Amino acid sequence: MESKVDKPHVIVLPYPIQGHINPMIQFSKRLASKGLKATLAITVFISNTMKPESSGSVQIDTISDGYDAGGLAASGGIQYYLPRLEAIGSKTLGELIIKHKKTSHPIDCIIYDAAMPWALDVAKQFGLQGAAFFTQMCAVNYIYYNVHHKLLNLPICSTPISIPGLPLLQPRDLPSFICSSEGSYIAYLGRVLNQFKNIDKADFILVNTFYKLENEAVDSMSKVYPLLTIGPTVPSVYLDKRVENDKAYGLDLIDFNSSTSSDWLSTKYPGSVIYVSFGSVTSLSSKQMEEIARGLNNSNFYFLWVVRASEEAKLPKGFKEESGEKGLIVNWSPQLDVLSNEAVGCFFSHCGWNSTTEALSLGVPMVAMPQWTDQTTVGKYIEDVWKVGVRVKIDDDSGIVNREEIESCIRQVMEGERGKEIKENAKKWRELALEAVGEGGTSDRNIDEFMSKLRRTT
Ligand code: UDX
Repeated sequence: MESKVDKPHVIVLPYPIQGHINPMIQFSKRLASKGLKATLAITVFISNTMKPESSGSVQIDTISDGYDAGGLAASGGIQYYLPRLEAIGSKTLGELIIKHKKTSHPIDCIIYDAAMPWALDVAKQFGLQGAAFFTQMCAVNYIYYNVHHKLLNLPICSTPISIPGLPLLQPRDLPSFICSSEGSYIAYLGRVLNQFKNIDKADFILVNTFYKLENEAVDSMSKVYPLLTIGPTVPSVYLDKRVENDKAYGLDLIDFNSSTSSDWLSTKYPGSVIYVSFGSVTSLSSKQMEEIARGLNNSNFYFLWVVRASEEAKLPKGFKEESGEKGLIVNWSPQLDVLSNEAVGCFFSHCGWNSTTEALSLGVPMVAMPQWTDQTTVGKYIEDVWKVGVRVKIDDDSGIVNREEIESCIRQVMEGERGKEIKENAKKWRELALEAVGEGGTSDRNIDEFMSKLRRTT
């Protein structure tokens, strides 16, 4: 019989924000369910912030980013945070590896968030295998690859861009960091381009997508790197109700009452509710919040709107009372439970990659309102490639999306011929997502291949 120490031991190291932790903890759980020992390494700050959620089959350990008391928010900006994360992160990751070396189950491989390429250098220093994990969609990574290798003609922000395997991209479809000279955006651009600086040394490159979702982009990027698509990283129990496994999705960094949303949804009829969320980071202007509020109210559908506590003051005065029974505003929601609730007919989303793959996997049509980073490219795919939603247009004069446009996009998804087509497409993608991660599917096979190539270091 196989003894416990025969299983390879992997450390999974996400970049410390909600949208990167969620897919990587899910991937860890999947590896654990297939027999690996997986340890999630999060920063001390994240570990102290996360809400009581247990990690189930995955053990948790910590490294430091140098900001144990306040994390990224305490750093004064991303340009200060990243160098310190690299310096202190490398040192404490090394200490973690040494700590485990003294146990009966030392570490064999580090699966690191591609946003932290220094972790690969640490892995190699200790003679371990290293797997880069790209949390975002393949097309976005491939755009960054092209920028990193100067394969695009500059300037690239005023004309449409043609990249093999991707649809023609207008400037508004490109990831936002590419075309801005703003200080923090330059630091973010450095972070996403750095993903490629040492990647040739990686033993594996894992991408959080599935083959059929982005086949052309995956084929193009596979010509330069051997990629393994392993997504979507949505717990199987949500994809297939027959599967019994750990329902917990991520480590919530916000304390909330999950039954508030579910209880409210249970009183609504199927397909009648717009679920609105802009993820864990995006911040909107008060004017934009007001337009969303009015657009939702004017549409006359029910809505469940996640407004984080830090954004709440931007809601128009008296709006909660005004919308009455029509709307529920919460600070955070159990998003997968919400999206899989049959009352939800549309997801009004900022197009974060996790929110998008969750909606695709659960067959929920979308209104796409991308804000920054990868979301603009994801919005392009939602509307024009997967055809599972309608993307809002920004008003040229005001620079925001006005209430009439918001109401119109909601109606196009919820009603009429276009809505019907979108719902059909959403159903199709749901099936394909399930197929990819189901037994013998493309992602399932790739995960098996990854596991079969892991070698014990001792
Ligand atoms: C960030 C970036 O902004 C995003 O563009 C990138 O693709 C990933 O990292 P974030 O903006 O938080 O992420 O969005 P998203 O990728 O959608 O991740 C949010 C996660 O929080 C999702 O897994 C979602 O299910 C979860 N969530 C969100 C909740 O559980 N409850 C909520 O109320 C809102």
